[in-house]
Amino acid sequence: MHYPITERLALRPWQDQDAEVFHRLTSDAQITTWLLPLSRSESEALFARVRERLAHERWGVPALVKRDQPEQVLGFVGIQPAALEPVLPAGTLELLWRLLPEHWHQGYVTEMARALVAASFSAADAPHELVAFTVPANRASQAVMQRLGMQRDPTGDFIHPRVPADQPQLRQHLLYRLPRPV
Ligand SMILES: CC(C)(COP(=O)(O)OP(=O)(O)OC[C@H]1O[C@@H](n2cnc3c(N)ncnc32)[C@H](O)[C@@H]1OP(=O)(O)O)[C@@H](O)C(=O)NCCC(=O)NCCS
Repeated sequence: MHYPITERLALRPWQDQDAEVFHRLTSDAQITTWLLPLSRSESEALFARVRERLAHERWGVPALVKRDQPEQVLGFVGIQPAALEPVLPAGTLELLWRLLPEHWHQGYVTEMARALVAASFSAADAPHELVAFTVPANRASQAVMQRLGMQRDPTGDFIHPRVPADQPQLRQHLLYRLPRPV
C-alpha cells in the first residue's frame, strides 16, 4: 500500500511494540462508545490480521503518526474492503479511522484521510468510489465524512450484520459515499 504524507502526519506499518496501543484503540471505553469493544485476545488476533493484510494486500489500515515522532502512534486511518456482502456489493472499499482521545479535535484524521483519498483516486487502479459508515449517534465520525466531501446516501443505510441483536444502539448504520472525481 502507498503511504501518503501530509504537512504534520505520516502513515507507517504497525510494529510489535504497537500491540498495546492497538489494544487501547480497540477496547478503550471512550474510543469504542459507538463500536464493539474487543477483548485482549480478539485485539491481538486483529492486530496480526491487520499487519498481514498491510504486508500482502493492496489496501490496508496503517498506524497514523506525526512526521517528527514516528514511533508514537496517534491512531489509524485506512482503506479496506468493507466485506459486508450482501449489504454492500463485493469489492466496496471503506474508509475508516480511529484516534486516541488525547489527539481528538486537532484535525489529524481529516488531514490524513484527505491525503489517502487523493492518493487512492489518483492511482492507476483507482476505485470508482469510497464509502464510510457509522451509527447515527457518532457525530464526530460523520463530521469527518462531511469534511471529506462525502455525501450521505439514505437509500444505503443498513443494519450491520455483525452487530449482535442485544446491542440495538450499534446496529443501525448511515452510509456516506465519495465518488471518484471525473
Ligand atoms: C471519529 C474521530 C476519529 C474524529 O476525531 P476528530 O479529532 O474529531 O477528527 P479530526 O481529526 O478530523 O479533527 C476535527 C476537529 O479538529 C479541529 N481542528 C483543529 N485544527 C484543525 C485543522 N488544522 N484542520 C482541521 N480540523 C482542525 C476541527 O475544528 C474539529 O474540531 P471539533 O471536533 O471540535 O469539531 C474520533 O472522534 C475517534 O477516534 N472516535 C472514536 C473512534 C470512532 O468512532 N471511529 C469512527 C468509527 S466509524
